[in-house]
Order: sequence, then structure tokens, then C-alpha cells
Amino acid sequence: MSDAPMIAPTIFIIYGITGDLAKRKLLPSLYNMQRDGHLPDNFYIWGTSRSAHDANEYIASIKEFIEEDHDTSALDSIESKLRLVEFNIKNHEDYETLRTQIEQFEQEKGLCFNIIHYLSVPPQLFETVADNIGQGALNTGCSNASSARLLIEKPFGFDLHSGKKLAECLARNFEEDQIFRIDHFLGKETIQNILMLRFKNGLFQKIWNSDHISSIDIIAHEELGVGWRGEFYEQTGALRDMVQSHLLNLLGVITMDEPSKLSAEIIQRNLARILELVSVDTARLVIRAQYAGYKDEVGNPSSSTETFVHLPLIIDDNRWRGVPMSVETGKALSTKETRVVINFDPESEDQVEGNILEIRIAPNEGITLHIKTKKPGLSFDSQDTVMSFNYESDTVFHDAYESVIYNALQGDRVIFPSTEAVLASWEVLQPLLDAWSEDAGEITSYEKGANAADITH
Ligand code: BG6
Repeated sequence: MSDAPMIAPTIFIIYGITGDLAKRKLLPSLYNMQRDGHLPDNFYIWGTSRSAHDANEYIASIKEFIEEDHDTSALDSIESKLRLVEFNIKNHEDYETLRTQIEQFEQEKGLCFNIIHYLSVPPQLFETVADNIGQGALNTGCSNASSARLLIEKPFGFDLHSGKKLAECLARNFEEDQIFRIDHFLGKETIQNILMLRFKNGLFQKIWNSDHISSIDIIAHEELGVGWRGEFYEQTGALRDMVQSHLLNLLGVITMDEPSKLSAEIIQRNLARILELVSVDTARLVIRAQYAGYKDEVGNPSSSTETFVHLPLIIDDNRWRGVPMSVETGKALSTKETRVVINFDPESEDQVEGNILEIRIAPNEGITLHIKTKKPGLSFDSQDTVMSFNYESDTVFHDAYESVIYNALQGDRVIFPSTEAVLASWEVLQPLLDAWSEDAGEITSYEKGANAADITH
């Protein structure tokens, strides 16, 4: 990855800049990047919204989402780069006007810009905006060297059928290498570190298979309930919200084949290939549950939307056949923790359990290897001990959105799943979605603040 000055001049267009995502996540990330010198000089943020807004007032409205003791000059810089455009995203003429505005701007500056289209709009508008961008000829840069890119965030459809339809729409308007599908989990430092752990340590490469690994479990527990996102969540549920994207991609990062080199193209291909081989393990129990009080929160007394899911999985290839895997996620649980637990076979039959490698995504980011050592003393007894890698206490973890934006600015697609990967994830889940749509009423209840283990046992 190169440094910020290598990034080409860019206009970063945020469709729906007055929305929640833009205010809570995008602008704060852009501010952090400006503060840390990660944005190029010729970088401009254009934001569309239905009604006219003043840049100064807009910046005032995001202050609550950035650090309290903010760097005034960085924030002023963001304001000076910001242009708010009154825009109806359903009106294709507005896209033509936007194209003209970009051309005029390029002439004024004497530069060709990369154009990044960030879709911060409700998912039901994704296709409308993508088609309008295509028809407005905003899907190309002004020279061969400049390019237009699309940054788009889940949900990538609602099921396999709509996922395919969205993929077709995007493919009509953009080449695959112009499409950057965001999975903010893949932007996390600790998940990117898994690639280093796996592929830069010969030790792990040799034992990363069913001959040595006896199970893999991925856990993403959250303390918070659905909060203000009730309306969205009621349509989505834990399976679509967390498993289709974040957790299956994480499983992919853990299980994919070694790339011949750490390039975006090969990593994307290997990720998609392994996801194509994943399926729900029908021999084990799928658990779906909903926390008590959820129905009131979302105002739907007959809701059967799951806020917790435990999904047993298998991978049908030579490396992983026979290894039980699972992903588990839930809201309103006793703790917030995201981690991967990899169990290694015991070395001998008299050992009850083998070594465990635990990758802590958040909090307490780091890696722990559980090993047996000799108990100090005259006897020859063993004890359980841990070897632990913890990040330095002053390590700054960039928000995953910064990583996402930084990579997209550089055109580096390594952390963005391909069309094949997204469709493969839907393929994994579709049988379950079909089954659940038939028995919509059946769902276990759990108390807010419950331990996940009490739900699954
Ligand atoms: C989002 C989901 O994609 O990820 C949320 O929509 C979830 O429901 C969030 O809370 C979890 O992300 P993180 O980074 O806090 O683990």
C-alpha cells in the first residue's frame, strides 16, 4: 500500500450526505484521515441531499460525532473541501447536471479527477442510483488514467434472488474492478492481521487443515439491542445483518487457500472460492432466538425476526472436510466480544483437549495460544497456560471506515468482497431463509443480558 500523496485527485461524492451513516461514520472518518495526513491535496467531498444545506451548518451538525477536542484546522480543511449539492437521486437529469459540474470543476482545476460514488442511501434506492450514474455517464473518469468507482454498503440484496438482481444492475453500470463492496469487518486491523498470521508464519501454514484443526467457531456477541435501528432490523435480522456479510467473510479469511501472493485479485478469488464450498451443517442444530422486549421495541407483536443466531457450518473441500465450524451472533447479550476460536486436535488420546488459538477481534484485540506447560514443582504434572499477543496499550486502531475509504481511494480492492463472494454467501443462507419463511412463528426467547451459552445449551 502506498502513502497518501500517491492518491490521485479525487471527488468523493456522498449520495445522502445528511443521512445517519454519513454523519456518524463517513465524515468523522474523513476528518480523522485529514487530521492524520491520509487525504491527498486535491480531494473534494461533494454531498447530495434533497434540500439545500450550508457547509458550515453541516459541519456543525457532525461535531458531536468526532473527537471532542478536535483539530480545528483539520475540520476547517474538511469544510473547505465540502460542497453540498441539492439533488433528487431519482431524477436522471440531476446526474447530467452533476456531470457538467464535475467537468467545469476539472477545467477550473486543470485536473482529471477520480470520482468515487458512495451510496449512503436506503438499499431500495441502490439500483436507481447505480442506473442513473450509468445513464448520466458518471461511471467513467475524464481520462484513461482516472477512474470512477462505486462504494456500496450492505445489504447487497435481501436474499439470493435480489442479491443477483442487484449484482446484475451494478454490472450493467460498472466493471467489476470499479465496484467496492464494503464489509467494514474486513477493514478491521485485527481481521487484516489474520492474513499476516496465516500467510507469513510457516508454523501456521503447515497445520491449517483438518489433519490438525478439530473445530472453528466465530463469535460476535453484542451488548446493545437494536436501539434506533428497529425499523431496519425488523426487515433484516441477525442472519442477514451479520452472517451474510461479516461473519461468512471472516470465516472465508480464516479458511481460504493461501494466495500465491497477497494481491487483491487472488485474495478475492480465494475468498469467493471457499465461500462457494460452505454450507449449513444440517446434522447439527441451528439456533435462532429473539430477546425479550424486542417486539415492543420494534412495535410488532408478532415479529419473528431473530436477534440471535447460532449456525453450524461445514466446508466441502479436501482441506476442511469433517471439521465442524460455526458462526454465532446476537444482540442484547451479556458482553460485547468478537473472536475466532480455533481448536487443535489433542496430541495424544489421554489429553482431553488440544491447543486453542484464539483471535480476539474486539475488545482486548490480540491473539492467544493456549498451551500446556509443566506445573512448577517436583511432580510431573501439566497446567494450562496462555501465550498472548496484545497490541501495545497506545496502539491506535483506525476506524474500519478509514481503512475502507483509504483502500478505495487507492483503488486497492483487497478488503472488498467480489460479486462471486456475495452471491456465494447468499447461496449458503438461502435454504435457511426459505425454511424460516415457512415457520415464521417459531423462535426461542432470551432475556436481555443473557449469556450466549445459556441460549445455545
Ligand atoms: C453492522 C451491523 O454491520 O455491524 C450492526 O449492521 C452491528 O447491527 C455492527 O452492530 C457490528 O459492528 P462492530 O464493528 O461494532 O462489531
